[in-house]
This record gives sequence, structure tokens and C-alpha cells, in this order.
Amino acid sequence: MHCIRKVSDNLYWVGASDRRLALFENIYPIPQGVSYNAYVLLDEKTVLLDTVDKAVSEQFFENLQAALAGRELDYVIVNHMEPDHCATLQEVVCRYPNVQIVCNQKIATMIRQFFSFETEGRIKLVKEGDTLQTGSHTFTFVMAPMVHWPEVMVTYEITEKILFSADAFGTFGALNGPLFADQVDFDRDFLPEARRYYTNIVGKYGPQVQALLKKAAGLEIEMICPLHGYIWRSGMDELIEKYDRWSRYMPEEEGVLIVYASIYGHTENAANILAAKLSEQGIQRIAMYDASVTHPSYILAEAFRYSHIVLASATYNAGIFTPMETLLLDLKAHNLQNRTVAIIENGSWAPTAGKLMAEHVAGMKNMTLLEQKISLRSSVKQEQLEQLENLAVILAASLRKPELRPQAVGEVQDNAMYKFSYGLFVLSAREEDFDNGCIINTAIQITDVPKRIAFAVNKGNRTHDMVLKTGEFNLSMLSTSAPFKLFQHFGFQSGRDTDKFTEFKHKQRSKNGLCYLDKYTNAFLSGKVIGSIDYGTHTLFVADVTEAKVLSEEESVTYAYYFQHIKPSPKVEKQVKGFVCKICGYVYEGDALPEGYLCPLCKHDASYFEPIQV
Ligand code: FEO
Repeated sequence: MHCIRKVSDNLYWVGASDRRLALFENIYPIPQGVSYNAYVLLDEKTVLLDTVDKAVSEQFFENLQAALAGRELDYVIVNHMEPDHCATLQEVVCRYPNVQIVCNQKIATMIRQFFSFETEGRIKLVKEGDTLQTGSHTFTFVMAPMVHWPEVMVTYEITEKILFSADAFGTFGALNGPLFADQVDFDRDFLPEARRYYTNIVGKYGPQVQALLKKAAGLEIEMICPLHGYIWRSGMDELIEKYDRWSRYMPEEEGVLIVYASIYGHTENAANILAAKLSEQGIQRIAMYDASVTHPSYILAEAFRYSHIVLASATYNAGIFTPMETLLLDLKAHNLQNRTVAIIENGSWAPTAGKLMAEHVAGMKNMTLLEQKISLRSSVKQEQLEQLENLAVILAASLRKPELRPQAVGEVQDNAMYKFSYGLFVLSAREEDFDNGCIINTAIQITDVPKRIAFAVNKGNRTHDMVLKTGEFNLSMLSTSAPFKLFQHFGFQSGRDTDKFTEFKHKQRSKNGLCYLDKYTNAFLSGKVIGSIDYGTHTLFVADVTEAKVLSEEESVTYAYYFQHIKPSPKVEKQVKGFVCKICGYVYEGDALPEGYLCPLCKHDASYFEPIQV
């Protein structure tokens, strides 16, 4: 039975998933399977975009037949000739004898190499920028050589602004129900496989991916339909940013990848000691793999992710222990660059692995090899323990250098940072479909490169929990025009029982999809949390700025200004014995404030209360 999916009004997904295949391209383990995506557009003409691997051909042809619903197939656009997408092309031609194949010259050549059917009169050749009109839709073609093979092109549909991106923006993993990336927790469940897919399949071709990204930047894209994995109809900026970083061979994160190849466990022991010492140095992002156990494709993906790599290997047959040698060949073949590398070698009589690993690293571009090579004779002794401690200190110091750019997803304007004051801010967050915000008064810039800030939030606020969970937030910098009712709206009621944003008029959404205030503010910034510290009543968040924009030239409201000019003097209507909150005017009746008391309105603690003068 067919299993087709509607993508838009006239566009259908007609692909299939394979969960039986052990090795994609007969080399990459795919424990979560893989999908082969193909699409059918029903217009005045009918168009199939790519086909599938032969393993899922039966499902594909049932899908194709169902989508066409008795109509003829007029065109098949072939974007990529690798057999996982074109193995069934000949059968398409047999089943739909009038179909025209739309492709470029290199694809046409490969069609004749792979197949034996007669192509005379069947192929419609296209070049960069050519168009194909199918009724209310127009396709145009963008050449993307070496993303992943030399013949690759991508196809852009102008009316619906859909990019059929071939292998680009694909991911390993079968489609288990959801079709769109926004229907799953992509970062949590699929980003590692998207990274492994990209780095292993296309990682070698960074400059060519950069060329495609530049061309794609000139297109207005509403949807990306790749040949593997989920369709993107929102939130693709972050994946595009990852592609930009991966294809420039820039690490995603400051952190240490430790890979060891150990025969009897002594080299592994050194790696474990180093990992522990790094942790004691406060390094949080440490990944560790046994090269004999973990497939190189996973370790390669982690090497693209982290800024620092430690290679620890035993000597074997006067060379590098082969699992490590295989990995090094793989890293080089995939063009890994711009990393800081440290080496640990072991050898019971003639350790040579270190020198040979260093030669491999020297053959890669822009690699910084640390001088502190550690050489073991059979096992770790006191001397090496000290050297490992020293290496951990050196790695930690190197990591703390502000080498990485922020994960910018929008323009970061320097002068937006000048709006910081000891002032008042609306901190906003979004979880699932719920927007929320609260007032905070503690936010500072801590570094300029990268743009990094810190802010503290009272744990009583729901926004606190949302930022902690999602790691994303916006900070709207309030200006002196902000009326008291704005502070009441965001500060004196709780997002646990109030929807503060749905009816709130003065809001916009930034690139991260979160709300910010476009009135009563002079700037906003968006950020991604990179660390947090629990300080009892509050959490201190540290975050990279991902977007920042000046909104007005009004003065930032300082805490002092708020007290002098905005907050009405607390009025106590009746003469009662008790305490009044200096922030919001809440009155607590009683002889003494209970221990650990928090204002139920604005969540400030007892120190913000003053006795009512009767
Ligand atoms: Fe999914 Fe390059 O093929």
C-alpha cells in the first residue's frame, strides 16, 4: 500500500525509509535507518524530483502511482546521480515511457554510464539559471558541483520558494512519522546524525558547500526539501549556520575531543586521567572515544564539532595502532582544519606513534600541534601523571581564549551593547508555543569577542525555567519611556497563570522566533545560554549573543530612574501594621516577615520590604 505525504497544496513526498540497511554507502553505520526522499508536484504538468535507492523501490513506485492518481508523468528532474537517489530511474522510464528527464550535461553523461536505456529525445538539458514552466510553478536550476558528486545540482521552485537541495541539509535517520523538522526535537534527537551525515558525506568539500550557500543566500527560501531526512519549513537558519561553520572547518564548540587507541588499557588509562584533570580544570565539554570501538564516522563528526583534539595511541608494528591510523587518514581525507591538537603516545620498547601521528596532523591545514607530547613506556608513572596535569592546564588555558565567534543567526550591532545599564529589562523565552517574559534588573556584557553576557533571574519566575530548559532568550532593554503598567504587566504577575504576550501589542519576533518588545525599549538582543550557575534564589546565566539591534535612541531606564520617576510611591490605603515592598508596593500585614519571604507579586526578597510607618 502507498504511504505518501502532503508537503504543500500540490507537492507530495513519495519517498521511503530503510531501517534494515546496516551500512550506508557500505561504510557508515546507520542504526536509526535512513530515508530516501523523492517528491511529486501535480501541476498542469506532473513532475517527479529524484527517485530512490533500489532497496525501497517497491514502496516508491506504489507512492508514485498513488500521487499521480492516474495521470501521466511528464518530467523527472534528476539532481544527483548517486544510486541512493537514481537507482530506480530506469524503471521510472520503463513505467512512464513518455517521461522527459530534466538534468544537466554531467548528469546526462552519468545516466548513460549507469544505465542502458535509450536517451535520445528523452533528456531535456538545463544549465544554471534555466527555467522549466509546469503550469503555475516554475523551476530554476542551480549547479552545486561536489555537493556531493561533480554532477550535483539543486532545484528551486520560484512560486512556492522551495529549494530541492539534493544531499545538502540531509540527515541520517529514517522518518518515523514526522515529515518536517519542526515536528521533532531536531537539536536533541537528530543534530548529531545531521552532523555525522554532513561531515562524512560532504565534509571534504567545504569550499563547494560555501559556494552553494552563497548562491542559496540570494534565494528567498520558504522550504528546504533534501533527499534524506526531514523537510525544513521553519527554523532552518540554525542548520544553515551549522553548514556555514562546518564548511569553513570552524569548530562549533570550545571543548576537547579525546580519542584513544589502546591495546591493553594503559593508553586508555592516560586518556582517562587527562579527562579527569580537564574536568577538574572546569572544562565541561569533553568527549571521549575508543577508536577501536567507535566507528570513525562518529569520531570524525565530533572532530568537526570540537575545537581541541587529543590523540592517544599505542605503537603497533613500529607504527600507529591501526584504529587510530584509520581515523587520522579519515580526518585528513575529510579536510579537517583549524584545530588545536595534543598527542599522547605509548610504546614498551620503541614508541613511534607520537612522531607518526604528528606527521599526519602536520599534513592537515591550520592545525596547532601542542609541544607537550606525552610519551608513555608501557604505563602511566608519576612523571607522566604530572605531565598529564600540565597538559590539562595548558588545554584549559587555550580553551579559555575567546577564539570562537558567537553562534550568530542575525546581525549583532555593536552599539546595541552600549544600551546596557544597571537598569531594567524584559527577559523573554518561548517553550513549545508559549511565550513568556519577566522583568530582571541584572544583566551585563562580559566579553566583546565573542559578544557574551551574563544575567541573573529569580527562580520563582516561569521565564527562568523556560530559559533553563530551552537555552534561548531575548533581552529587551527598557527605556525611560516605559510606563509603570509595563512593569506591572511583566513584573507583578506570573507566567504560570497569565499569558503575558498573546494580547500584548508591542512585540516582534527576532530570528530565533522569540518575542521582544518594540516599544518602550532602546535595544534588544537574542542569546544562547552556554553556562549557568545556581546561586540559591537565582540562577546566573552566561550566554552568547546571537542577534542584537538598536530600536531607539531613548535613554536606558536605570534602577534609580525607575524609583524616582516611574514607580508611584507605595500607598498604603489603610493604616496597617506590616511591611511594604519597595519595588511593587505589595503590603504584608504582620509583625515580622516570615523567614525566606518573597514578595508574591514581584518575587523580591525581604530586604526589599520596609516597615509601614503608622
Ligand atoms: Fe544521498 Fe550523494 O547521495
